[in-house]
Amino acid sequence: MRSVAVGLSIGLFCAMLPIPLQMLIAAVCCFIGRGNIPIAIAACWVSNPFTQILLMLFQERVGAKIRGILDLGWLDFIDIDGTVPFIKEDLNLANFAVGVGATAFFLGIIAYPIIFCFYTIVPKKYLQGVAILKRKIPVISLTTTPMKKIPTEVFEDKQAAVNKLAAETAELIRSNDAVAKITVLGLATGSSPIDYYKSLIHLHNTDGLSFQNVITFNLDEYAGLDREHPESYWHFMHQNLFNHIDIKPENINLPSGMIGEAEIPSHCAQYEQDIKDAGGIDLQILGIGRTGHIGFNEPGSPKDSLTRAIELNPITREDAAPSFGGIDKVPTTAITMGCGTILAAKRIVLMAWGTGKAPIVNEAVTGPVNDIVSASYLQDHPNASFYIDKQAAGDLE
Ligand code: GLP
Repeated sequence: MRSVAVGLSIGLFCAMLPIPLQMLIAAVCCFIGRGNIPIAIAACWVSNPFTQILLMLFQERVGAKIRGILDLGWLDFIDIDGTVPFIKEDLNLANFAVGVGATAFFLGIIAYPIIFCFYTIVPKKYLQGVAILKRKIPVISLTTTPMKKIPTEVFEDKQAAVNKLAAETAELIRSNDAVAKITVLGLATGSSPIDYYKSLIHLHNTDGLSFQNVITFNLDEYAGLDREHPESYWHFMHQNLFNHIDIKPENINLPSGMIGEAEIPSHCAQYEQDIKDAGGIDLQILGIGRTGHIGFNEPGSPKDSLTRAIELNPITREDAAPSFGGIDKVPTTAITMGCGTILAAKRIVLMAWGTGKAPIVNEAVTGPVNDIVSASYLQDHPNASFYIDKQAAGDLE
């Protein structure tokens, strides 16, 4: 009933306007009143001739003066000219009916294609936009909640987070073992994953978790450090994980820091090939550097970059300085998996702890995807998560 009422009112109103304007209004009505358009348009269509008749009778009574006020537009069709001679001198009801009918017919021709268009041709997306406009606008809150573009789990403390990640890893290994499938883990260095590695070792010691069918690929290695250097990532991984579990030495992979410059491209290409040959990375573990890097993908690293040599950012070298005993001792370059290599992993979990990581975590999780913060690329990964503690989530709240 409401549609009919609206249609009738619109019809009454439209009838007083020139035809192009009537059409425009009909289109706008279709647009706004979607849902019951056929009824609304039909009512509009039916009411129009009636209105015209009323207007003509009205005009006949008040004469030409009214014309200047109302600009009766389509009444010109039946040749009303100031003095209204047609009506005054020769009111032929049959002609009159033909005029009104023809106008109604014309409206019908226009109205039906409009209905058709709005139900079939106008893209759904556009109509959704209108639906959004029609929604009631909620009261705007002054405190804003950041939009988390990467699923982010905030844990009470680091231990709760690493326990969950270790359990997820054990589940993955065991389910692959059950179908005689190798599990490929992508591993990270830095302080962030140390407790996670402790949890894995604990599961190995107390729960029989075996790494016999696990192949690992580490993210990166400093250039110029041999394996035994106390700051090499090879050394770090053996100290913190490999020496304490039953992984086969031949299943451990890290880029080499001791490759001659000329051999770096082929070494990196081989690393990529080895990952592919192993079946791709099932679970990639990440930390995040202060520059927003994952691996050593410093600002400027393209999204599709692969394993390559990279110059370390001064901030990264500064962060590594204490363990090297001075920034001068920190290598200036490294070999790192690329962002593309990392993003090819089936599942990715990035860990971050403490207030120091809060600003960069916020940028990666809520900021734009760009090559300044390579961790922001994880927004485009279908199965990436951040596991962080309350402190690292500080800037998200
Ligand atoms: C190094 C590693 C990164 C690691 C980062 C953060 O730069 N190459 O893989 O994410 O350190 O280290 P931390 O976890 O100690 O903050």
